[in-house]
Amino acid sequence: MYPLEVVSKSDMELLRTLSRVQNRPQATVRERFLTSFRDLLNQVKNTVTPTPWILDVGCGTGSLTSTLALNPNIRALRGVDFSAAYIEHATHNNDDSRVQFQVGDACALPFGNQEFDHSLSMLVLQFIAQPEKAVSEMRRVTRPGGTVAAATWDSRGGFVWLRMFWDTAAMLDPEAVVRRAKVCARPMTRPGDLERAWKAAGLTNVVQDMLTIRMDFALFEDFWRPMEGKDGPYAEYVRALTPDAKAVFREKMALAYLDGEADGPRSYAATSWVVKGTVPF
Ligand SMILES: C[S@@+](CC[C@H](N)C(=O)[O-])C[C@H]1O[C@@H](n2cnc3c(N)ncnc32)[C@H](O)[C@@H]1O
Repeated sequence: MYPLEVVSKSDMELLRTLSRVQNRPQATVRERFLTSFRDLLNQVKNTVTPTPWILDVGCGTGSLTSTLALNPNIRALRGVDFSAAYIEHATHNNDDSRVQFQVGDACALPFGNQEFDHSLSMLVLQFIAQPEKAVSEMRRVTRPGGTVAAATWDSRGGFVWLRMFWDTAAMLDPEAVVRRAKVCARPMTRPGDLERAWKAAGLTNVVQDMLTIRMDFALFEDFWRPMEGKDGPYAEYVRALTPDAKAVFREKMALAYLDGEADGPRSYAATSWVVKGTVPF
């Protein structure tokens, strides 16, 4: 029994949660990722207390925090994020008294030393200019014996969908070459980056692993739709294209998606690095 297992009320509840996430045709990458983040959490055995306090650093709109809250053994959850808009959204949607969200910087966490049993961070460290500072903050606010864990996308080598997007764009547009370089150079996304940072922060029992999900699409239209959405650097890039440039880009993306066959389902691997370590006594 792993107390940090995301869903522990019953197997039925787990199945309901997973099917809700997977059956939504427009499920976001993040929601899909959550189903697999559970595997990371299953590995994070509670070594401190059977009713832990948990911090979610860079919680965004609270998708990880609220999924963790499905575990009745968790005594309290705090989500902290830079963005006031995300925190407002997360707070508005929360009706669990154990959960609180607040604005704060991962590099200067608004908490005292050793306040939490565990600190987690999902898909955040790659966006922080000084991620080492954030890791040391996560260690500072976590009790000795507690776990500090994180995940980042393997954006250069393990994220087929993202590479299809930026490689196609880069064939058409020098500006996209620059953007692709930035995406591939993000901190904490190269092999060994997380493990090195965890060890440098003085964490022990450090284990880095990979976690792969499948991104499944029914048709090209399903694949293309998020690119015309509001969220993410890819949508921002598409929004800035002229109508003609967008039409050409869409056509080339369709060729990449179809890869010589008829339109229909495709499944792409997306891998993230995951790491966990223990705060020493
Ligand atoms: C890709 S989102 C991930 C959100 C959430 N962890 C999830 O997986 O659903 C990245 C988040 O990191 C937050 N973020 C970036 N830099 C931050 C910082 N220095 N301190 C706190 N949050 C930060 C952003 O505001 C954004 O909500």
